[in-house]
Amino acid sequence: MGRQLIAGNWKMNGLFGPGSAQAKELAARASAGTPLAAELLVCPPAQLLLPFAEIFQDSGIALGGQDCHTAARGAHTGDISAEMLADAGCTYVIVGHSERRADHGESDAEVKAKAEAARGADLIPIVCVGETEDQRRSGKALSVIEGQIRGSLPENPEDSRLVIAYEPVWAIGTGLTAKPSDVQEVHGHIRDLLSGLFGLEAGAAVRILYGGSVKPANAAELLAVPNVDGALVGGASLLAEDFWAIAAT
Ligand code: 13P
Repeated sequence: MGRQLIAGNWKMNGLFGPGSAQAKELAARASAGTPLAAELLVCPPAQLLLPFAEIFQDSGIALGGQDCHTAARGAHTGDISAEMLADAGCTYVIVGHSERRADHGESDAEVKAKAEAARGADLIPIVCVGETEDQRRSGKALSVIEGQIRGSLPENPEDSRLVIAYEPVWAIGTGLTAKPSDVQEVHGHIRDLLSGLFGLEAGAAVRILYGGSVKPANAAELLAVPNVDGALVGGASLLAEDFWAIAAT
């Protein structure tokens, strides 16, 4: 397994002035001293992609989109394509975040098409899965996640340009985190599924991130769980100091 990936999802937060100041602080930290063991990725809102691409130049920090359309171009008002994200300097894109599944009714099939569009534009898709509170309470967490994995992953098992993010919906933005034992169970289950789908070697090469109220105070415990290959961080990625503290864990 390669380096852990610490990814910041800014969601619909960040204006040019204060956002750029945070990005510059992050780039300054990344460019000074010894390089981090982890790989850093920031996924800002679309209007900040181009300025951040410039700020992150030579810092080693990667840039990602938060969503992409299934098509490369065309009459899709308000959408952005994977090709456009790549053109702006992105190397990753988040697809199938639970907020998009909920707010925009995205199905597994649509998420899969987005992941394939991402790969078609040479981006690495970060495919998000996760159960709701009701689903966990009724003992369905693993089967829900399995269904999402089977339905949302791109074809081409031999292609290891893929990241999965397990984000329990009830842990997002709530301050609640899944217990390390639950994270271990889910990530282990996802790893087994990947091995079954892609074969042992390709299955082991896919990074599985945990997301949901990851903070500097709980990052060490979560990142030490077997099969946790990084974190997808929301709120705590908005402040360079906190995001850096998580990445340096
Ligand atoms: P929070 O870290 O704010 O809980 O958000 C997690 C998330 O949804 C990242 O994609």
